[in-house]
Amino acid sequence: MNNYPLIEGLSLEDKASLISGFAFWNTTAIETSGIPSVVLSDGPHGVRRQEQGADHLGINAARPSTAFPTASASASSWDRDLLGTMGVALGVEARALGVDVLLGPGVNIKRSPLCGRNFEYFSEDPLLSGELGAAWVRGLKSQGVGASVKHYVANDQETDRMSISAEVDERTLREIYLKAFHRVVAKSSPATVMVAYNAVNGEPVISNHWLLTQILREEWAYDGVVVSDWGAAASDVVAAVRAGLDLDMPGTGAGSAALIDAVTSGTLDEAILDRAASRVVELATTLVGNRAHASDLDVDAHHALARKIAEQSGVLLKNEGVLPLTAETAGTIAVVGEFARTPRYQGAGSSHIVPTRLDSALDAIRERAGDRLVHFEPGFTLDGKHNVELVDRAVAAAHDATDVVVFLGLPPEDESEAFDRVTMDLPADQLALLQRIASVNDRVTVVLSNGGVVSVEPWRGSVAAILEMWLGGQAAGSAAASLLFGDANPSGKLAETIPLALADTSSFHNFPGNGQTVLYGERIYVGYRHFDSVRHDVAYPFGHGLSYTSFKYQDLRVDVIEDALEVQVTITNSGPRDGAEIVQFYSVPPKSGEDRPTHELIGFEKVTVQTGASVRVTTRIPLGDLDYWSIKSRQWVRADGVYTIQVAASSRDIRLEAGIELVGTEPARPLTLDSAMGDWFADADGAVALQEMMAQFATRGSGEWDDATRPLVLPMPLRTILPMAASKLPFPVLGERLLQRLSELRADPIGRS
Ligand code: BGC
Repeated sequence: MNNYPLIEGLSLEDKASLISGFAFWNTTAIETSGIPSVVLSDGPHGVRRQEQGADHLGINAARPSTAFPTASASASSWDRDLLGTMGVALGVEARALGVDVLLGPGVNIKRSPLCGRNFEYFSEDPLLSGELGAAWVRGLKSQGVGASVKHYVANDQETDRMSISAEVDERTLREIYLKAFHRVVAKSSPATVMVAYNAVNGEPVISNHWLLTQILREEWAYDGVVVSDWGAAASDVVAAVRAGLDLDMPGTGAGSAALIDAVTSGTLDEAILDRAASRVVELATTLVGNRAHASDLDVDAHHALARKIAEQSGVLLKNEGVLPLTAETAGTIAVVGEFARTPRYQGAGSSHIVPTRLDSALDAIRERAGDRLVHFEPGFTLDGKHNVELVDRAVAAAHDATDVVVFLGLPPEDESEAFDRVTMDLPADQLALLQRIASVNDRVTVVLSNGGVVSVEPWRGSVAAILEMWLGGQAAGSAAASLLFGDANPSGKLAETIPLALADTSSFHNFPGNGQTVLYGERIYVGYRHFDSVRHDVAYPFGHGLSYTSFKYQDLRVDVIEDALEVQVTITNSGPRDGAEIVQFYSVPPKSGEDRPTHELIGFEKVTVQTGASVRVTTRIPLGDLDYWSIKSRQWVRADGVYTIQVAASSRDIRLEAGIELVGTEPARPLTLDSAMGDWFADADGAVALQEMMAQFATRGSGEWDDATRPLVLPMPLRTILPMAASKLPFPVLGERLLQRLSELRADPIGRS
């Protein structure tokens, strides 16, 4: 008899086999008990359904499915509804392909631009990552398909990902790296959470009881299935299950045998095994039961959706009057760059999708250009070999054209799971080509295809416009054309900072570590939290993105309503076209002794406004989102005082701000003889007790200290300063009396003498 009715009557062997998986993509079925097998597949921007030749590195074939924009692209839409719609579409495709759990979303944080999997992750900011991840999961769930939010936690690089230990302090872990996962768990209850390969502070996450049980289960009340990344539990499945793992994937048989041995020999409590097996059964019965509700898959509609998401994800970084292109004027458009013809639209590794179709930007531009002549020159080859003839031809075409659009980007082999990039730069042959083109034509637009950010220095000054398309999925080519011609008005904004140089990034000296450990030495100062706090110039700031129209921000109002801030602002489209604006809300904390970033993102809204019209935007921000993790009291606390709430078009473009006073939640620290003299004076009772004591026993009263003395003595612990300042009594007696007097005052505040 156990406490889990779902596994009633199952043998130890059955239970162990449920936990340890069956095959590469399947859990174990126990047909005699009516327990079906769950089918899991990658994720996250398409369904990689493999029926034969399974692998987790994107090597073998899979059935076609829509390749949606990757996360670095879709995050630039800052659009919860759009991510939700993408989740719905993925759910429909997963169902159609017989998949019950889609392995995504990835909410690891972009600590360095070099992380090889940055294309699979949303942002450098945990609030944005968590909000978009949760919207994606809710969409997927609406189709009865489970998600797997990954890779929990601190898997922020690929170098040594299976062995490296992320050395990260608790505050940083909580405020930056855990926060995105927490938001997804709290706002969307994903069916599964996938545990990363790496260790945190020396303990592999897979066997880390604090992370898998204390935080995930006890603090966050997560009640779904905790699944290993593929092979992460292979070396010690027993330790993993003891720490809180429910499902070891892929199934090998060895895991099952080890679990049976451990229970039989008494090293693993059978109750722990029961709980994990029960969760797997619950997952299987729920999700497999949903299979009956599959809706029809419309491949064309999903391609159109992929295009819409790509249009919303493109970020217009710069535009000096050359975009949008017009089909009505005369003059040739030179389209340069192999990527215009051979799109780069997804990254390599486990998320690699076989698309249902593929749009090229060149075809779409030709179709859209009307009577304008389009002259294409590849300019470079994808293998990076310098080809003088190709360059000369491209330069000649650019010279003769009215407008030039150059498609540049990272070669496919640069961005993948399993290794990191070594540079932020575009390939040298592309840079050399661009330099020559920019010298013969001043109407050059660069369209970028890359998953992680690339350096735009030093060339950004020599071109007129830059459109960042990221790895925009199978319809990125046609989406680029519609943005270039203004059929869609750009509205994407950066979900990560583009620095001037890699050396400016705060993780620069600590990425990717020394082979064993990687020190998160920049602590909470990741991305704009670093750049804005130290006021370092960047190429383009977090949250930046242009439009073909312009927006005015007016009439800010900030109120506290119950336990939330209600922020209202009016956005007016003051330019020539309909468009959408991503309005960002940042909080500047009150000045205090705490070490805090200059400001932090606390909310965002995307709003569509017709030309000439105004929209009142209202957002509610839970006060808890303004809290920080107090190292002293080991809990989330709200600083006391006046916060500045900023409404901004980017982290560097603050349009309006207003102050609001909030009552803090920092618990009072008890005064002791180790407390600083300043802390005693800052406390009403402490000040009375200390002044009385000084008046009686000090050689000089505290009132006699001049401005030069006070800053010297106030930070000193009482244990050090008091014997010197009040030397008429021995310190142990003084200390005892002082504490006694303090407790009298605390007990009877009215009876102060
Ligand atoms: C990746 C996961 C992926 C899994 C299954 C692992 O190598 O890290 O993101 O879901 O393989 O393919």
